[in-house]
Amino acid sequence: MRIGWHLLLLAVVALVLFAGAFWWLAPYNVAASQRHLPPVRALLHSYMENAVGRRAAGLDPPDWFDADDPALMRLGAAHFATGCATCHGAPGLSRNAVVTAMLPEPTLIDETEHTVLEFYWLARHGLKYTGMPAWAGQGRDDEPWALAAFLSIYAEVDRDTYRELAYGDADWRPANAAVAFGGMTGTPEDPIQNCARCHGEDGMGRDGTAPRLAGQSEAYLAAALDAYAEGRRQSGFMEPVAIALSPQTRRALAARYATMAGGLGSGPTGNRSGDAVRGRDLARQGDEHAEIPSCMSCHGVAGQPPRSDTVPLIAGQDARWLSIWLRLWRDGPLPRTPEAARMAAAARSLSDGDIADLAAFYSMGAPASVSQEQQSR
Ligand code: HEC
Ligand code: HEC
Ligand code: HEC
Repeated sequence: MRIGWHLLLLAVVALVLFAGAFWWLAPYNVAASQRHLPPVRALLHSYMENAVGRRAAGLDPPDWFDADDPALMRLGAAHFATGCATCHGAPGLSRNAVVTAMLPEPTLIDETEHTVLEFYWLARHGLKYTGMPAWAGQGRDDEPWALAAFLSIYAEVDRDTYRELAYGDADWRPANAAVAFGGMTGTPEDPIQNCARCHGEDGMGRDGTAPRLAGQSEAYLAAALDAYAEGRRQSGFMEPVAIALSPQTRRALAARYATMAGGLGSGPTGNRSGDAVRGRDLARQGDEHAEIPSCMSCHGVAGQPPRSDTVPLIAGQDARWLSIWLRLWRDGPLPRTPEAARMAAAARSLSDGDIADLAAFYSMGAPASVSQEQQSR
């Protein structure tokens, strides 16, 4: 018995001494200029694959997620150009030599194989001890699904398709893009060209790729951009874009979108699943028992602008964005903006069904059009 304890003690002391010597002499080289030993590389990589696969398997996508939704693929591609292509390259675009000197070297996405859930997990959480960052919008679990939709078709995307998905009609500067480090989009002469990649040339959101901005009040747009730039409103799509703009440019862009023709309330968009008639009644009267106030008391009624220019116009916004935002206002992360508490109080008691119905109603545009739309179904 005594011998056993002594042996154990000896083993522990030997282990501590060995670990201390390993730490002190540092025989394993941490230099990125020296590749991992092949067995170490294989071990690390297969552990990573297993760890990602296990965690991704338990994910449950939100009900609005459809991996085949072209709007989500465009948004994923557009963000890929902002935040991923610098490291991973893009279809038909090569990478900067600074990036290929990283260890591990960022993989070319068409050389990997992952499920939609794994792509989501990787975009959301990143990979420790590699350069692969977690999602930039803290708490925005909804956003990386767009990346999952795009990465799933990545292997079939060629240069022209990528250009169409990520840029649409906006200014495209591949020569700048390929060599730029820290921003694949290059620098278009007019900063609004960068916004147009997602929000469209006309500010109408490229069919649900991003929210509509045209006709929104200048005060609201400027406040939203400031909130993204200052980290008071979380979004992995918008924070990196807004932070690169000077306060003057943000104000100038807000003014341009506010005066664009078309306006928000100009017509129906897709992705609707709720009951628009019930949504209209709820928006108009609220629900006293459930402590839901009338939305129109702040956001305005039929074709009229909201009560104050710090309240956004929401009629005509895409149903997916309305659902995502109402969930955010209910569940967080809440923006830290001057009027956030008022909207959060209004959304606190909404059920998922209420949200679907309100999104169906408001996505139809000007409230008056709801009864006609219902009859024509
Ligand atoms: C600063 C560089 C960098 C940026 C920016 C970056 N990544 Fe990565 N990424 C890496 C590195 C490094 C790895 C790890 C490669 C490895 O382990 O072999 C990686 C791994 C991945 C993988 C797993 C590939 C595999 O080997 O299975 C995916 C998918 C991925 N990144 C997607 C993205 C997406 C989407 C974005 C943008 C939201 C992004 N990355 C941004 C560097 C980056
Ligand atoms: C990669 C796509 C992308 C780019 C590029 C982009 N946006 Fe956005 N924008 C979005 C998305 C997605 C949202 C919704 C984010 C959220 O949920 O908070 C958004 C939200 C906004 C909002 C808030 C809208 C609202 O109703 O609350 C404003 C304002 C805005 N963007 C302005 C801009 C401007 C100005 C630019 C160019 C400098 C720009 N965006 C570039 C995708 C993009
Ligand atoms: C007390 C006034 C008030 C009421 C009532 C109210 N809202 Fe809001 N709502 C706001 C304000 C203010 C904002 C902008 C807050 C901010 O960005 O800080 C907002 C933002 C929103 C947004 C985000 C829009 C965007 O472009 O980002 C949606 C969607 C929304 N409200 C829907 C609703 C719905 C649906 C109801 C009814 C259940 C409702 N609101 C009730 C004041 C209100």
